[in-house]
Amino acid sequence: MSRARQHNAIATTDANLIQDLSRATRRTASPHAGSPTTIPNKILKPKLEHVAPPPLVDWTCIPTLVLVVLLVLVVASALAARAMADVRPVERLPGPLPLPFVGTRWLFWSRYKMNKLHEAYEDMFRRYGLVFAEIHPGGATMVSIAEREALEAVLRAPSRRPYRPPTEIVQVYRRSRPDRYASTGLVNEQGEKWYHLRRHLTAELTSPSTMQGFLPELNTICDDFLELVNTSRRADGIVPGFDQLTNRMGLESVCALMLGSRLGFLERWMSGRAATLASAVKAHFRAQRDSFYGAPLWKFAPTTLYRTFAKSEDTIHTIVSDLMEEAKLKTQKNASDEAMREIFMRILENPALDMRDKKAAVIDFITAGIETLANSLVFLLYLLSVRPDWQRTIRSELPSCSTLTVEDLAAAPSVRAAISEAFRLLPTAPFLARLLETPMVIAGHKLPAGTFVLAHTGAACRRDENFWRAREYLPERWLEPRAPHAAALVAPFGRGRRMCPGKRFVDLELHLLLAKIMQRWRVEFDGELDIQFDFLLSPKSPVSLRLVEW
Ligand code: HEM
Repeated sequence: MSRARQHNAIATTDANLIQDLSRATRRTASPHAGSPTTIPNKILKPKLEHVAPPPLVDWTCIPTLVLVVLLVLVVASALAARAMADVRPVERLPGPLPLPFVGTRWLFWSRYKMNKLHEAYEDMFRRYGLVFAEIHPGGATMVSIAEREALEAVLRAPSRRPYRPPTEIVQVYRRSRPDRYASTGLVNEQGEKWYHLRRHLTAELTSPSTMQGFLPELNTICDDFLELVNTSRRADGIVPGFDQLTNRMGLESVCALMLGSRLGFLERWMSGRAATLASAVKAHFRAQRDSFYGAPLWKFAPTTLYRTFAKSEDTIHTIVSDLMEEAKLKTQKNASDEAMREIFMRILENPALDMRDKKAAVIDFITAGIETLANSLVFLLYLLSVRPDWQRTIRSELPSCSTLTVEDLAAAPSVRAAISEAFRLLPTAPFLARLLETPMVIAGHKLPAGTFVLAHTGAACRRDENFWRAREYLPERWLEPRAPHAAALVAPFGRGRRMCPGKRFVDLELHLLLAKIMQRWRVEFDGELDIQFDFLLSPKSPVSLRLVEW
């Protein structure tokens, strides 16, 4: 088609269109026109497009969905910005007033007593709230937590190598003795080194079959303990110095488990070695407490505190080394103790471990096992003394034979309930220490990775918002829970991968001990037990309780 013809064609189409439109407009515009006629859209539209001015922004090309998404993003980021404004830095946490150089430690040298630290923390939770900060002399922040959600968040944080802040004085001492220690030991090591020790040292200890194999021996050890208690009982049933007897029980049982040999700590007239070891362990724990909460002078000079600690380490090392030698000789002579040899021999024979680490492990296991068991048993009997009815229930659930099996214990749920309740109300380890691996928002404050946190599970368990009639010893709550019942807060053996490897052993031992004591006696206690903080919660020595024949 030629250009002129093309132009004419368009012009004709336009002319026709205009004619059509003017005809239609005339028809509709006249109010006198006949029946109204609808204007066809296809005709009106082109005309309007031509007429309307173009919009400044042409929104029609942006789909509605995209607009909605943009709107949501804008609102969400505004809300997040507002929430972030509510998250305060860790420095703004409430807490005692820090002083230059000493931080908040001055409190433990003035207002509070170091051997009553559990009471000091109760008081600080009342004053500053359930999440507060203390400042170390070096300036680092330590956050104490007794609030349920915050505790659960800290203790449930997944970690392959949980970092429990080491006790500095142990680190310093052990590093100064490379002749004895290849590392600072399982309790104080961190990261890959800790993982290596944990993997090679605790598999046997935590295995149910080891405990099953050890049960007959443990029955005998418990019977010997009861015999020792019986011979120490006065005519009125009072057992003076019961706590010292339980220390001997802890020592004998943990040595039998670890070293595979009975060492005679439950014989009535034993050598002074058990007493020396027990008091060295006590001095060891106390020195750790004082080095942490007291003036840090020991870091600059060998103070009395440091020397006391070094002496206790030395005594423990010497005695445990002797015990290991004796045990080795005994097990070589007496091959019949197969079940008991297991842990000791496996550790000794493991080629993946340095000999110094093997020895340190046995030392750490024995040290960790003596006081903890003894304190837990004293607390349990003390608490149970207010519940003669529960004692009768326990007795009624048990058979009368002396050798108890796992099935016998399982058939006595009141034993488990009594133990769980004692661990809730009076755990010997009332808080757990952790270093945060990732930043966390706790009670509206952002705690950076690396913050030292004390998770006060013990204090949280005594709060009414977490347990029904929280301050009372009510074992029945473990059989028929009444809300609130925050069972996850009860963590006497810790949490996660750094949890106590002795838990299975101690659980079995406490069950057996309580069952056997209740088979024979009911327990009474006059007055209140004086509890102190020796790095662990401990009964003030000497403890006397009354055991009365049924
Ligand atoms: C009633 C008795 C005991 C109680 C209440 C107890 C409690 C604890 C607690 C709370 C921890 C810290 C766990 C954590 O940070 O999550 C721990 C660690 C430890 N316990 Fe026990 N313990 C007891 C008995 C024992 C016994 C008998 C042994 C040894 C045979 C033992 C060996 C250890 C060791 C080696 C660690 C350090 C574990 C690691 O860091 O990997 N404990 N214990």
